[in-house]
Amino acid sequence: MARKPILAGNWKMHGSVADAKALASGLAANVGKRDDRGVILGPPFTALATTLEAVRGTNIVVAAQNMHFEEKGAFTGEISPTMLQDLGITHVILGHSERREVFGETDELINKKVGSALAHDLTAILCVGETLEQRDAGDTIKVIKGQVEAGLTGVTAAQASKIILAYEPVWAIGTGRVATPEQAQEVHAEIRACANGLGLPGDDIAILYGGSVKPDNVDGLMTCPDIDGALVGGASLKVEDFTRIVEFQE
Ligand code: PGA
Repeated sequence: MARKPILAGNWKMHGSVADAKALASGLAANVGKRDDRGVILGPPFTALATTLEAVRGTNIVVAAQNMHFEEKGAFTGEISPTMLQDLGITHVILGHSERREVFGETDELINKKVGSALAHDLTAILCVGETLEQRDAGDTIKVIKGQVEAGLTGVTAAQASKIILAYEPVWAIGTGRVATPEQAQEVHAEIRACANGLGLPGDDIAILYGGSVKPDNVDGLMTCPDIDGALVGGASLKVEDFTRIVEFQE
């Protein structure tokens, strides 16, 4: 498989600048030189600069957890793609289910953000995922396809190298209830087919699984052919746990 595994940490709204420095420095020491897998850290905005500094000279890259699609303007409280570029940020998480559910982000808004990220040479980590009600109703694939198609509208094949997809079933996020490798693999294969159907080189796009990924379940997930990595919340906040996740064994 040509795709390099990617292990990404989403720190959400956790930690001080000092915490970020300690976490990023620990990870830089443990896994910063690995070049057989990509490592992405997603601190809160307040710790982006510190995290960048702590991983300087390593292969670890840093992602923002959100951004506005406009470059500037009267958008109180928002952060723009050019501001992220200005800091040296290369990646941005978009469409996380918490953004969709808690902050009301729509597929249309998320698509604008994806387009803007790509236009500013930022790699977009686009998250999709179904709720438990949707899964129980048998709508998982329909929902996921809808989110992928809407999120990637307007993205060209030439831009695909700047796209990472993350399948994060809402019922698995922060619940300790991880999807089984079989459940995740089924959806990942559908997502890849969906990307191909949009005229994108689906085989080249990394698709990460997210939702209660831990040191003790990452190995099983990573054996699946269409699971190319993980987007990790809770377990990305501890140096030892995230180190073990990066060092998953196939
Ligand atoms: P979790 O979060 O690993 O704590 O379930 C994953 C995510 O929301 O990205």
